[in-house]
Amino acid sequence: MAETTTYDVVIIGGGPGGYNAAIRAGQLGLKAACVEGRATLGGTCLNVGCMPSKALLHASELFAAAGSEFATLGIEVPAPKLNLGQMMKQKADSVGQLTKGIEFLFKKNKVDWVKGFGRIAGPGKVEVTAEGGAVTTLEAKHIVIATGSEPSKLPGVEVDQQRIVDSTGALSLPDVPKHLIVIGAGIIGLELGSVWRRLGAQVTVVEYLDRITPGMDAEVAKTFQRSLTKQGVEFKLGAKVTGATTSKKGVTLTYEPVAGGAAETIEGDYVLLAIGRRPYTEGLGLETVGVTPDKRGFVETNHFQTTAANVWAIGDVTHGPMLAHKAEEDAVAVIETIARGYGHVDYNLVPSVVYTSPEVAWVGKTEEQLKEEGRAYKVGKFPFTANSRAKINHETEGFVKVLADAATDEILGAHAIGPQVSEMIGEYCVAMAFRAASEDVARTCHPHPTRSEAMRQAAMGVEGWTMQA
Ligand code: NAI
Repeated sequence: MAETTTYDVVIIGGGPGGYNAAIRAGQLGLKAACVEGRATLGGTCLNVGCMPSKALLHASELFAAAGSEFATLGIEVPAPKLNLGQMMKQKADSVGQLTKGIEFLFKKNKVDWVKGFGRIAGPGKVEVTAEGGAVTTLEAKHIVIATGSEPSKLPGVEVDQQRIVDSTGALSLPDVPKHLIVIGAGIIGLELGSVWRRLGAQVTVVEYLDRITPGMDAEVAKTFQRSLTKQGVEFKLGAKVTGATTSKKGVTLTYEPVAGGAAETIEGDYVLLAIGRRPYTEGLGLETVGVTPDKRGFVETNHFQTTAANVWAIGDVTHGPMLAHKAEEDAVAVIETIARGYGHVDYNLVPSVVYTSPEVAWVGKTEEQLKEEGRAYKVGKFPFTANSRAKINHETEGFVKVLADAATDEILGAHAIGPQVSEMIGEYCVAMAFRAASEDVARTCHPHPTRSEAMRQAAMGVEGWTMQA
């Protein structure tokens, strides 16, 4: 006989959406359970996404620096030797510590981690099937779906995690590819492409569009592409991948020019398929509460509420950017809505970051979006070549661009490509949350010498008084 436990809220999925919802629920005194089938908490982000990729980006960046920039700084080391096993081990160790950290936070906030796969089994019921097949039924006043997303598939390109890998496989290749072909010049393709390029692989990125990183401000994307090309990443733009055949040794990829013309082939020893992600709702039992995902698989919501009473959805499984920090915002807002009756996320203030070298980070509108909206705006720009700290560190690639309303001076967007810009974009998120004018940033003292001064000098540029360029 299945046993039954009653909760105020049962959250399905233990990624950044689910685990943050669980913690916030615990903080607000709700009796909460988080159902997670993976052996560790943290979802895609901690286990096979943001965290392990950053571990490899950091390590490979230092590997590349040891092989070139160190000499510029007067540090002479023998040509660095790659110990891929150790690089992978330190990645796994850090990930292990982080996932354990979530377990600790669950205990601290009195959240139950119910291990197994969760399936909605009608209003107020979640069935959990544990690894051995045992089924537990949880009674829930509220159910929060936080099941995330999975890599999109491409007909004709079968991911086998041997020769054709997705983002998970690309984090654990057994050796450095001789030639890695990346399908999709999005964030995953360029971050993981960068990792293997720095470790010595030839990298070719095949992209359907005639530009890289759709959604990024076009001027920034152009500079970004130039920089990656300088690092040896090759791009085939306007190319639609139509199929791949694998052998023991490698893969032959076929693509067609989007503009028309004969199909071409390219050979590599590994292919990374990174053409986006799709919502993950397989086997979730949505039909038992009358919820039907839309054509692309997203669960539609109105302020996190699905079409079923007391069934909520957050994160990648719903519309909006598929980002861990967006899911985290959703998580806080949905739990506060359940507990207090209100909760809010300003999706215009969700920043985006590409953790390559240079990094790219932005928040708010791009120039293209403002033009499309017909909004009059002013631009302030500042190059890192003119920033003293960047200059001293030999990291002068890139610039900061601030877009502000032509009449009110309200900041509408901030875009940065350059050293450590991921750590600096938060300044603009805060400023924009307070609906700051560009002048507010321009007249705020910033520490010298720091790269953050570039963020200020760009804001000065909106009114044409950039002082250091
Ligand atoms: P993406 O949506 O960023 O980029 C996919 C690219 O593939 C697009 O440029 C698209 O035009 C191209 N493409 C689609 N079909 C194609 C075809 N048949 N042939 C050639 N090119 C094709 O998707 P990606 O990189 O897979 O990332 C998935 C999600 O994960 C995104 O929402 C991304 O924001 C998120 N993510 C965020 C990270 C971060 O915040 N640093 C890191 C990694 C992923």
